[in-house]
Amino acid sequence: MSSSQTKTILVTGGAGYIGSHAVLALKEKGYNVVILDNLVYGHRDVAENNLKVELIVGETSDRALLDEIFKTRNIAAVMHFAAYAYVGESVENPAKYYRNNVVGTLTLLEAMQQAGINHFVFSSTCATYGIPETVPIPETHPQNPINPYGESKLMVERILRDFDTAYGLKSVSFRYFNAAGADPQGRTGEDHNPETHLIPLILLTALGKRNAIQIFGTDYPTRDGTCIRDYIHVTDLAQAHVLGLEYLLNGGESEVFNLGNGNGFTVREMIATAKEVTQRNFMVKETERRPGDPAMLIGSSEKARHVLGWQPEYANLSQIIDHAWQWHQKRHR
Ligand code: UFG
Repeated sequence: MSSSQTKTILVTGGAGYIGSHAVLALKEKGYNVVILDNLVYGHRDVAENNLKVELIVGETSDRALLDEIFKTRNIAAVMHFAAYAYVGESVENPAKYYRNNVVGTLTLLEAMQQAGINHFVFSSTCATYGIPETVPIPETHPQNPINPYGESKLMVERILRDFDTAYGLKSVSFRYFNAAGADPQGRTGEDHNPETHLIPLILLTALGKRNAIQIFGTDYPTRDGTCIRDYIHVTDLAQAHVLGLEYLLNGGESEVFNLGNGNGFTVREMIATAKEVTQRNFMVKETERRPGDPAMLIGSSEKARHVLGWQPEYANLSQIIDHAWQWHQKRHR
């Protein structure tokens, strides 16, 4: 029996988009997984029918529940995905974001500390950088978030730095660029409600569930006037989390890594590729800019490749969109 088979990992937010892919990646490596999810955005059916691991429904701010889990489950490490992640909503209701994303995480970290659990993999974001000064963005780039969502994730990064200094809690924080795609075997995928992300909105339009896809702004200083983003396959993100976990379990020091493909696509390019992949035509409307969108976000992931040996497997954009398309056709029949 390999050591991974004896270890149980608590995955908060494991019924959500990125967390559910991490659960699959952990299971494939032989880990036991326990999910803690409040099911506000996560999906019970996916967790129970497709992931087939224990699901505990509850909040990361419920200290009594956390103490109970840590007392009874022999948890070796925590992967923490549970968070609210709507940038626009975070501007309108910052209290909700600081309470859940910061206070909830602090409660979780304190419970871990008391239980003697010292390994933590954290879901951070490129939104902690704000408007980039250089592209591709390295981890050393200044962090000046432009919305409470990004601020809340940066605050947790700071808390983690200080928890390591004071208590020896070792963490890996991953700053994702744009998570995209779906499990190649179709067991889970992206399903937000409300949906605000570009690829699912394009695919829902291709399915006829929406009238048109809007392009938010055509006057950006980019090659075709629309925003550029670095879309990274969610299964590749999940693999990075397993590598980050194993790095910590093998005695690694706390680290921060970007996760992206290092190349960017415009909104128009995304729509054109989706039309090719789906073989469907649909209406496209050009509208005003969405407030708070940087023109271009592309990440340098050299550090993750070098230190963790991470190598994205699904870097091809058509394949990323095709996996998302397979999932959406099944999910929204
Ligand atoms: N877009 C459109 N039309 C839409 C939806 C999006 O043109 O209907 C554009 C956006 O303006 C943006 C791009 O498509 O330029 C991607 O938008 P998403 O909403 O899919 O993703 P974001 O880049 O805004 O957000 C992602 C993560 C956030 C994270 C942010 C960092 O989802 O969690 O990157 O900027 F905070």
